[in-house]
Amino acid sequence: MCKGFRIPIVALLLMACGGPQSMFETAGPDAARVIVLWWILFAICLFVTIAVIGVLLVASFRRRSEGELPVPDKKLGVAMGWGIGVTIVLLTVILTATFRSSDAYAEQGPVALTIDVVGKLWWWEVTYLGENGEPLFRTANEIHIPTGVPVRFRLRSDNVIHSFWVPSLAGKVDLLPGRTNYLRLAANKAGIYRGQCAEYCGIQHALMAFLVIAQLPEEFAEWMEAQQLPAREPKDEMTHRGKNVFLQAGCAKCHTVRGVAVAVEAGPDLTHLAPRHTLAAASLPNRRGHLGGWISDPQGIKPGNLMPATPLNSEDFQALLRYLENLQ
Ligand code: CUA
Repeated sequence: MCKGFRIPIVALLLMACGGPQSMFETAGPDAARVIVLWWILFAICLFVTIAVIGVLLVASFRRRSEGELPVPDKKLGVAMGWGIGVTIVLLTVILTATFRSSDAYAEQGPVALTIDVVGKLWWWEVTYLGENGEPLFRTANEIHIPTGVPVRFRLRSDNVIHSFWVPSLAGKVDLLPGRTNYLRLAANKAGIYRGQCAEYCGIQHALMAFLVIAQLPEEFAEWMEAQQLPAREPKDEMTHRGKNVFLQAGCAKCHTVRGVAVAVEAGPDLTHLAPRHTLAAASLPNRRGHLGGWISDPQGIKPGNLMPATPLNSEDFQALLRYLENLQ
């Protein structure tokens, strides 16, 4: 291959390893443990691959010379012994390293906060719990955590199997119907880390993402306080109209806005929708145009999801958008 091509290709490959959803850019002790395990596995697999290919190449090019006797049984036995010995040592290293890193996940130490996460089709319902396990407030697809302290995720599913994975912060843990799993992690620097469902769960598995936003403790405390408030009341006529559209057009059947409507069926809680970065489980940026597109054609954007289209005349549509943008 021409040398001029090689450098950009290597650079591209390395670029693919960075960014907000990369296990190579660790932002916490748990992810750091995972990456050590990854490099151990990588080194062992590389060594085994090179050794096996090397031995195969030697064997295929080697010819027994004239009059040479076959390899004696004793020599073969020694080679076999070495092969088995090395294999046992390598497998033991892999097993120990794997147990050590998965033990760290299940660690039941003290945590600053417990957050309940339920895998839905195809989004994440997030409930912050108080000191006695009582629900404080509910949100969706965007999880704020304080930096520097461990938090615990309680992971569940009421449908199929999903898997909670924020590569920069920790390894994967499955959300299983009928069972509760736990994941303890800490972020040691503030930032936005992207997470992704890591277990195939249906047609929109790929668009089942989320954000973990690690904030300095004082910023996080402010966020927690703001989230516990009920929805902001409309201040002008158009926003008022939007609120009525929200209540009458069917939105309130699935979406709770605290202080305004409690939904019977569970779609994402929209009480504080406006400050969220994304819509539809991190599929779209949370901007007016995308929000409008999502409301009028959710099946075009994410086919198979449970949200139906909401046909509205243009004044009602604009008023609804204004109301949703008012939900600070
Ligand atoms: Cu949920 Cu894949």
